[in-house]
Amino acid sequence: MRKDNSGFADRIEIVEGDITKIQVDAIVNAANNTLLGGGGVDGAIHRAAGSKLLEECKTLGGCETGQAKMTGAYGLPCKMVIHTVGPVWRGGHNGEPDLLYLCYVNSLELAIKNGAKTVAFPSISTGVYGYPVEKASKIAFAAVKNVLGKYTKESFEKVYFVCFSKSVLNEYIRLISSFE
Ligand code: AR6
Repeated sequence: MRKDNSGFADRIEIVEGDITKIQVDAIVNAANNTLLGGGGVDGAIHRAAGSKLLEECKTLGGCETGQAKMTGAYGLPCKMVIHTVGPVWRGGHNGEPDLLYLCYVNSLELAIKNGAKTVAFPSISTGVYGYPVEKASKIAFAAVKNVLGKYTKESFEKVYFVCFSKSVLNEYIRLISSFE
């Protein structure tokens, strides 16, 4: 049996809801390469944070797919926002899995480096960008598990996977039970 030092099952939670309402240190935004706002979760985060978030985003010079950048949270209840850019789904043979994996690893590492002990993720790329939820959630779990394995429970507590719809929630719950 493989040894699992990550304490993965105790350190993740799958919840249904709106990521702009959750009380955590950092929330992750599924943004686009411009970082200048958009629809979906990106639009919701910018609306809830207020116009100062866009002002700060304008200074960042965009973001490469798979990378992550941090801003303040302004009107949001969290302390910081980590903006990442997921891949657009083009059938899965154009580097999408690696890029999505990088989104989770880079976002979580950046949040932890900046002192976050709790981080909430939306289901990156599974809306406008069309990534199938089943494939995307398995990548999300694997990436988060990998990072959690590097940090003790004292230095980092918990990752929340925030599902905006019942169908995504049900898919996450179904897949987590068969993960590892
Ligand atoms: N809280 C949590 N999850 C949400 C929320 C919310 N308030 N709103 C939507 N979702 P999407 P993408 C879910 O399209 O696929 C933007 O225009 C949604 O149901 O927001 O990465 C950006 O600017 C879905 O499960 O992000 C980019 O141009 C998940 O969040 C593009 O969309 C991701 O859906 C990025 O597309």
